[in-house]
Amino acid sequence: MIQKPPFDKLVLATHNKGKVREISELMAPLGVSTVSAGELGLAEPPETETTFAGNARIKALASARGSGMPALSDDSGLAVDGLDGAPGVYAADWAELPKSERERTGVRRDFDMAMWHVWDKLSASSKAPTARFICALCLAFPDGTSHVYEGTVEGEIVWPPRGDKGFGYDPIFRALGDVQTFAEIEPSEKHAKSHRADAFAKFLKAQFGA
Ligand code: IMP
Repeated sequence: MIQKPPFDKLVLATHNKGKVREISELMAPLGVSTVSAGELGLAEPPETETTFAGNARIKALASARGSGMPALSDDSGLAVDGLDGAPGVYAADWAELPKSERERTGVRRDFDMAMWHVWDKLSASSKAPTARFICALCLAFPDGTSHVYEGTVEGEIVWPPRGDKGFGYDPIFRALGDVQTFAEIEPSEKHAKSHRADAFAKFLKAQFGA
């Protein structure tokens, strides 16, 4: 049975459009409306921690305090075993373009470049391609209370990139037992097995009893 949560509106503490879309879709059946930190014009705080949970907490607390509303953040990334867990919490940084190029084009991140970087290093190492996506969701309140829920999905890196349905590193990640990458499967299928879905299930159980 679904309990009434201690909020009916949540700030999604992210500026990442892929995450906003996926979390909004996961929240939709619960009758909780969402607004993103980007839509509220909230600044992105520096992610200074070295863990997903730590960075998720920074983002959720910044949005909760900045908006006066409960906020849910997502800090996530891809950990490749053969690269000792890299890019890990630096998954977004690996896609960051040099400042001069950002200013010239207005484009901040290039995931084709980041995926190539992963493959280039992994193939040079001749290690197994096993990898996982990790997600830490943090629910924070304006009074500073916070709760973190972590999820993972095991899989492997494939090359070349395939599919255009997901975001970030989805075109080179195939979940264990799957034939298609996360960018080839339907969003509903990704929602049933992703790291975000795993973390979300824990969040739902704790906050909604669902
Ligand atoms: P951050 O959590 O904002 O620091 O960024 C995490 C980065 O990890 C994103 O920009 C994506 O590149 C990557 N990432 C996280 N979750 C996913 C996913 O579900 N699919 C593909 N890439 C992801």
